[in-house]
Amino acid sequence: MCGIIGISSNKPVSANIINSLKKLEYRGYDSAGIATLSDGEIYEVKSEGRVDNLENNFDLKNLRGNIGIGHVRWATHGIPNSLNAHPHSSHNVSVVHNGIIENSTILKKYLINKGHNFKSQTDTEVIVHLITEHLKTSDLEEAITKTLKQLHGSFALGIVFKDMPNLIVGARRGSPLAVGYGPNENYLGSDSYALKSMTNKITYLDDGEFCVVKKDQVVFFNENGKKVNKKILELSSDEANYDKGDFKHFMAKEIEEQPITIKTGIKEYVDNLNKDINIFNFPWKTKEIKSITLVGCGTAYHSCLMAKYWFEELTTLDVNTDIASEFRYRKNRFKKDNLYIFVSQSGETADTYAALDLCNKNSMKTCAVVNVIESSIARDSKFVLPIHCGPEIGVASTKAFLGQILVLYLLVLKLGSLRNEIKIRDYQEKIKDLKDLPELIEKTLLHDNDIQAISLTFNEAKGSMFLGRGFSYPIALEGALKLKELSYVHAEGYPAGEMKHGPLALIEEGMPVVVLAPRDNYYKKTISNMQEVIARGAKVLLITNKSKDEVVSENIWETIEVEHTNDDLLPFLLTIPLQKLAYYSALKKGYDIDKPRNLAKSVTVE
Ligand code: AGP
Repeated sequence: MCGIIGISSNKPVSANIINSLKKLEYRGYDSAGIATLSDGEIYEVKSEGRVDNLENNFDLKNLRGNIGIGHVRWATHGIPNSLNAHPHSSHNVSVVHNGIIENSTILKKYLINKGHNFKSQTDTEVIVHLITEHLKTSDLEEAITKTLKQLHGSFALGIVFKDMPNLIVGARRGSPLAVGYGPNENYLGSDSYALKSMTNKITYLDDGEFCVVKKDQVVFFNENGKKVNKKILELSSDEANYDKGDFKHFMAKEIEEQPITIKTGIKEYVDNLNKDINIFNFPWKTKEIKSITLVGCGTAYHSCLMAKYWFEELTTLDVNTDIASEFRYRKNRFKKDNLYIFVSQSGETADTYAALDLCNKNSMKTCAVVNVIESSIARDSKFVLPIHCGPEIGVASTKAFLGQILVLYLLVLKLGSLRNEIKIRDYQEKIKDLKDLPELIEKTLLHDNDIQAISLTFNEAKGSMFLGRGFSYPIALEGALKLKELSYVHAEGYPAGEMKHGPLALIEEGMPVVVLAPRDNYYKKTISNMQEVIARGAKVLLITNKSKDEVVSENIWETIEVEHTNDDLLPFLLTIPLQKLAYYSALKKGYDIDKPRNLAKSVTVE
């Protein structure tokens, strides 16, 4: 989860490199660096912290050179400091890297014996010295091909050479890398997002490929050093607005955008006239699908769990979910009549991509639910369902979660209808109910002042629990994750019915506990679980939905009532107060809301 940029131009490149690095900081931001070539020398500057630090520490405006590479880092080997920041350089080669070199220790020993001196604690530095070593006896393509064959693990690379000041080499295995085409200059970038401000013409490298990027020419090679032709994609330009507008943080903007993103998702998929769902070109007959496995990480995994409840409620399909980092190493029993659905906002999460790759290698049916349609997971799945949320910049996922569960819900309805497991009347009724969802979310977003006050209690506590049953359980997990990743306070999502099997021992006087208890089939049971924690001193924040029936319980610390709607849609509304709770908790603490510590927006390494 680092970010790479490279530019080969007919004019100085440092300003554009810095600007692109700022767009890449969502991928990692514990250190940054840039190297340019000028007058036969490599000029390398790097520092700990954000790109702003780099600008403050060095006079980058006068950093000469019409060719250069840049990097923002999320540390995997070696602490975040300027020594371990990328680029890493020998006397004649400089490299930026995203990924993990798994055999770096062995290679380092070999290269030290060859007389190479290492300065950093990183795995990346072995790449620099390996290429330097091969260049002693091979030409460029040969040296690159030999080096890549010796590397085990994943990489996206940008490489410049003191003695070849007109080219950048890019290479990809497992971590995304794209080439961009501009006027009298060409680019290398970790993803289209970094390149979009300079071009909308992109070529993605595939695993094993490398390329030579000059200002007026790009040549691609396969892993054996043979030239290959690649197609140029025109990127969608709908990701124009990357600014916060009047909001203090991207996350605040993205929470408030949710009525629009849901409306867009409905517009993209729902045919209100015919009360139908437009999922075209579904490549399989429904009778070919007997079961479903949903795979994702973090919030995307919670979307998978949410979809499981809907599939079980509305169809007879057998549904499993799995965390991608588990799935990819499990002894999976692959079945031809199983549909594998991969959920990922970025479409670049390494574990999720590896799970997809495993299914592709076993010729399975694969479907991606993603926000970035040019992403690796989208490109390598047999069928793609975009969530159309526009760019989600805040590292903590909000609108993308709602977008994911919307698209999954629509898929459940469509498959249920095609399998004649949802009566046409119910199908059309549910589609009709969707029309009100954006407005219901709008109303739920108004719970603002009360949540701001409530968030203080969560800040002062040493930990909290989020409880729910049935449809509310995945939302409880999501609410706990939001609070953890934003306010760095321990929070645990748990099935409400499970508390008595151990975690009840955690409950002590004044401990804040969120109980999600909408008036659905699980309501009464959840209320009794709530009373169990109140009896032991918990401060319960009850999140339920409006109803004419009073909540039968006393000593509830706070209650938030979301709008009434059909049970299927309650998870959308229950999520909103939890997103705001996490946001205001972090805001009060003064933490970096859009870039929480230790995290990155797209986890492109294991
Ligand atoms: C969610 O707030 C986190 N940012 C994280 O759990 C994220 O959902 C996870 O890393 C998966 O990312 P993806 O959706 O891009 O695959």
